Amino acid sequence: MGLPEGFRWGVATAAYQIEGAVGEDGRGPSTWDTFSHTPGRVRDGHTGDVACDHYHRWPEDVALMAGLGVDSYRFSIAWPRVQPAGSGPVNGKGLDFYDRLVDGLLAAGIAPAATLYHWDLPQPLEDAGGWMERDTAYRFAEFSYLAAERLADRVDMWITLNEPVVVTAYGYAFGVYAPGRTLMLDALPTAHHQLLAHGLAVHALRGRNARTIGLTNHYSPAWAASPDDQPAADAFDGFMNRLFTDPVLLGRYPDLMDDAPFVRSEDLAVIATPIDFLGVNYYQPTRLATPSEGPLPFDMVDITEHPTTGMGWPIVPEAFLSLLRTLDSRYDLPPLYITENGCSFPDEIGPDGVADDSSRIDFLDAHIKAMRTAIDEGIDIRGYYTWSLLDNFEWSEGYHPRFGLVHVDYETQKRTPKKSYAWYRDLIASSRTQTEPR
Ligand code: FCB
Repeated sequence: MGLPEGFRWGVATAAYQIEGAVGEDGRGPSTWDTFSHTPGRVRDGHTGDVACDHYHRWPEDVALMAGLGVDSYRFSIAWPRVQPAGSGPVNGKGLDFYDRLVDGLLAAGIAPAATLYHWDLPQPLEDAGGWMERDTAYRFAEFSYLAAERLADRVDMWITLNEPVVVTAYGYAFGVYAPGRTLMLDALPTAHHQLLAHGLAVHALRGRNARTIGLTNHYSPAWAASPDDQPAADAFDGFMNRLFTDPVLLGRYPDLMDDAPFVRSEDLAVIATPIDFLGVNYYQPTRLATPSEGPLPFDMVDITEHPTTGMGWPIVPEAFLSLLRTLDSRYDLPPLYITENGCSFPDEIGPDGVADDSSRIDFLDAHIKAMRTAIDEGIDIRGYYTWSLLDNFEWSEGYHPRFGLVHVDYETQKRTPKKSYAWYRDLIASSRTQTEPR
């Protein structure tokens, strides 16, 4: 069966992972600058200082997207470029960069999809408590307003937050991502304050006539290691899959937030402000067991019966389909966009000058088929963005994992399309002849 008319194919990136130019044109430091410059935090001491130098090479990157024939590009706007202190004066030059990028995309016929927060919190806000503080939510709404004031006439789709669960879990609970705090369950206020930030930002964006506004969450189907471990799987599901979705789509929190003192009664109505779409990022399922010790209600157990990507993540496209079905049965969903899906492999350019990443092609093919099954079943999915256009800075793993359709040589900044680039281009071209009226 064909895809619905208007279905969007895209690629996704994020500011800190590709831009570099961290000290240029008035950008202020973010938590990720601080974190990556702290010895021992990122593998081999890699930082985003230069990354893919996209800040200077964006015209070449837009040309690569045009070559793919994508309908849309999902990028993120670095808050510390726009408002270096996280509050107060706007840095016009920071906004100028996104202005140029957006115009370049439109000139190439590519619809800009902007994420407002992909984890690069201005360091001064973190110094004041970061997402543990309610005030950060109001600061984020203000930044969203400023970004929309400049760009809402041309940005086609707005994503408030990217994967807030990762910020709460990896950033504030376990400390493996910026800002590197190890608050464990005491990190829960960061969940609420990010959700409040999302809700306030939806209002701010609508106030500036922004079109098509949504939130992107990370989802991972929870598998119980044995029937006895079902409570552990349910606890993980509540945290990973429901904590950032139930309040937005159902207007209530799952049990783990019962009686939380930082939740004010009026907040849920703000958080549940209607959105135009839900962004779904999917990479892998997670297997859970009853914990033997520690403060968490689950232990994560390796999934060993499936092949894995370069990150060691199990490749399970049927879990992607089951996730889409679960979301559809659990909620009265707005339209979905798959805002990230992809894989890393240790791709190298061979002597013939080609990066033969057939494993990526297999991964994408299987996951796109799973998505098409969901569409055929009636789930309203309007777009698919591959993570990622380019190899880039993969957070605490530095430049080791390669997630791109395009290989990046970090010594020379040379971009070389991999085999998957041509495959994705052909897939997009052939699907154009198959679209059906919705
Ligand atoms: C997601 C992030 C994205 C990228 C991929 C591999 O969780 O949103 O920035 O790192 O994982």
